[in-house]
Amino acid sequence: MKSIISWVGGKGKLMWLINLLAPTRYERSIDVFGGSGTVTLNLDCPGNTLKVYNDFNANLVNLMRCARDKPLALIREIGFLTLNARDDFEVFKRFIAKEEFTEEDLKQELKLTEIMLSPPSAAEAKELLLANAEEKDIKRAAIYYKLLRYSFNANGDTYGGKRCDVRRFFVDIWRFNRAFSEVTIENKDFEALIKQYDRPNAFIYCDPPYYDAEGFYAVVFPKADHIRLRDTLKKAQGYVMVSYNNSAEIIELYQDFYIFHTTRPNSMSHKESDIYEELIITNYDPRPYLQMKNHQLNLFSFISLLNEGEYKLIHEPSSPLKA
Ligand SMILES: C[S@@+](CC[C@H](N)C(=O)[O-])C[C@H]1O[C@@H](n2cnc3c(N)ncnc32)[C@H](O)[C@@H]1O
Repeated sequence: MKSIISWVGGKGKLMWLINLLAPTRYERSIDVFGGSGTVTLNLDCPGNTLKVYNDFNANLVNLMRCARDKPLALIREIGFLTLNARDDFEVFKRFIAKEEFTEEDLKQELKLTEIMLSPPSAAEAKELLLANAEEKDIKRAAIYYKLLRYSFNANGDTYGGKRCDVRRFFVDIWRFNRAFSEVTIENKDFEALIKQYDRPNAFIYCDPPYYDAEGFYAVVFPKADHIRLRDTLKKAQGYVMVSYNNSAEIIELYQDFYIFHTTRPNSMSHKESDIYEELIITNYDPRPYLQMKNHQLNLFSFISLLNEGEYKLIHEPSSPLKA
């Protein structure tokens, strides 16, 4: 399932491997560096799992909370509810009634009157960037959403002139609203969050800003934070999984963990042949889970491996931190 936003470092292309290497039994999933929410949305959790999404970016978390708690107010603020056609009104009524949409319905919706998203004005963007971002605020969420749509990294410094149809957002937010209705949303630094939610039955997934790739996010993540994260995770009681770009420093830092290597297409490149090397790191040995999943889903896993890519274990610790 797609998020309402695209985010630098989004993990959509890696979900197949995250799900393959994840433990099979846990009671809470903690998406520590949640970003777009793609991992929370697409993790194959056991039933009744308590789901926690977190990000330290207050504007992003405000947008996620508004999309979960006040979707209609958010859509109105973004500019959808002009209701100038009878069909638009019908769709709106169904949205309120929380009726299911089929793929056919969605195609129909997309034939409705075109409503284009207006770009945020410089004054709006400035107001957002200077605002104290602690309270839930629909107006701020709508401006931030526009900024994300019009600039690549939401810092407002790379505006593109993309045309953008609000109706797409209408559908996305409706789906997101359903999927996130039971998710706990937090806005904390990773260390405080992990300490709060860590339990032996927790699955803690960490997708920190990439090593040596500072400057993509509004929240800074200096080298000392990568070490602080490793130290926090070494002490965790739960199942830990971390994803990173392939880097000798990270491999060195995580010598007490299992390290897998894989590749994915580079979404920031225009060339199809460009690939990105990724590491998936765990504090437990995931191979027994892998065997169980392969056994249960033999054909599916086989196809998935062929379609999505390959992976290999490149480092094994002398004993697992988490049995
Ligand atoms: C690689 S992105 C996560 C992408 C996400 N997995 C997805 O699929 O969209 C890293 C995220 O970490 C957040 N972040 C940076 N510093 C943080 C901190 N100290 N604690 C928690 N989150 C932080 C950033 O705001 C950014 O959204």
